[in-house]
Amino acid sequence: MRTRAAVLREMGRAGPYADTHPLSVEEVDLDPPGPGEVLVRNAAAGLCHSDLSVVDGARPRPMPMVLGHEAAGIVEEVGAGVTLVRPGDHVVYSFVPMCGACVPCQSGRVVLCEAGAAANARGELLGGGRRLSADGAPLNHHLGVSGFAERSVVSAASLVPVGDTIPLAKAALFGCALATGVGSIVNTAGVRPGESVAVFGLGGVGLSAVMGAVLAGASTVVAVDAVPAKLELATQAGARHTVLAGEHTVEQVRDLTGGGVDWAVECVGSAAVLAQAYASARRGGAAVAVGLPHPSQVLEIPAVSLVAEEKRIIGSYMGSAVPRRDVPRMIAAYEAGRLPVDLLDSGSLELDEVNVGLDRLASGAAVRQILRLSVD
Ligand SMILES: NC(=O)c1ccc[n+]([C@@H]2O[C@H](COP(=O)([O-])OP(=O)(O)OC[C@H]3O[C@@H](n4cnc5c(N)ncnc54)[C@H](O)[C@@H]3O)[C@@H](O)[C@H]2O)c1
Ligand SMILES: [Zn+2]
Ligand SMILES: [Zn+2]
Repeated sequence: MRTRAAVLREMGRAGPYADTHPLSVEEVDLDPPGPGEVLVRNAAAGLCHSDLSVVDGARPRPMPMVLGHEAAGIVEEVGAGVTLVRPGDHVVYSFVPMCGACVPCQSGRVVLCEAGAAANARGELLGGGRRLSADGAPLNHHLGVSGFAERSVVSAASLVPVGDTIPLAKAALFGCALATGVGSIVNTAGVRPGESVAVFGLGGVGLSAVMGAVLAGASTVVAVDAVPAKLELATQAGARHTVLAGEHTVEQVRDLTGGGVDWAVECVGSAAVLAQAYASARRGGAAVAVGLPHPSQVLEIPAVSLVAEEKRIIGSYMGSAVPRRDVPRMIAAYEAGRLPVDLLDSGSLELDEVNVGLDRLASGAAVRQILRLSVD
């Protein structure tokens, strides 16, 4: 079948993207779902910095590629052997497909799935190959999802069934921003009531981390960003203190928390900011690395502090989530009024406006912009 999709053919094109159009919205071909695969009619997709990082080349991926990895939709057709979902079911995508058979999957760390990471790196679905093409030439899948499209064919291993109580435009955000941000707090860090948390970078991921820290009962949440409007949103999300990023960020965080925080969470994607987060953690505290810096960036920290101050640095991919456990739980917390997810909403866009949306994300003006796709 034919579907409209946002295709990236070349990384690293300079902005403003509204003028240079790195993403071209066009009709492409979509093969039917093979065994173990599912055709989804997409309702909405969020613009995440990880999409922008493919556009600007900070996170290199095979070209050409249909972008988008944070999305939700309605199952339209299932391939042979699929029992997880039926046509009409509402689903959120997981941007790591889980094979269930590798060592990380077997030990419950499904977002570290080896087959899933390998398929994502190749731009293929978990079962191998690509279902998207233009003029007979294959198009790569972004993280097994390619959600900037009216329809997607994905492995069933990339899906989380979510029920129909939450609007799909809201549900989409749980696949990346919420899973990653809240998960970094409750899964990776395991923040306990009374502990202190600083969050560096207040985009969709960082604001979700702030919400997660409040949900987990942190005594003090310090929110740091370079854009004042983001600090206001963090206050609304429950942060007790805010710090405008600048020369004295580390001293300010340490002063506000009596010598440093238990957990300092980096949600920018900068090794320099990760070093600040590490320096803001108290003796015995930890930095949690969530942002994805360009592969060339190297972290410099005083090595001895790992030992003499028992400090730690922990990586957090997709919030160390078990997506089929955590996404429904987080949606339930939202529906119970315990996660103010509406604060992430920076308005919606048509698929044709995706390049304008990239500019707003790059400038720091927007949190999550939601592309409206093919379900009303
Ligand atoms: N670990 C994961 O699984 C995972 C998942 C999704 C996104 N990410 C990564 O997380 C990062 C954040 O994603 P996002 O979509 O929230 O991005 P975003 O662009 O919406 O937010 C980043 C924020 O950082 C702020 N910022 C920039 N420089 C800063 C500085 N020096 N100090 C403090 N704040 C600063 C910006 O103003 C902005 O508010 C990106 O690197 C993204 O690729 C990681
Ligand atoms: Zn993302
Ligand atoms: Zn696996």
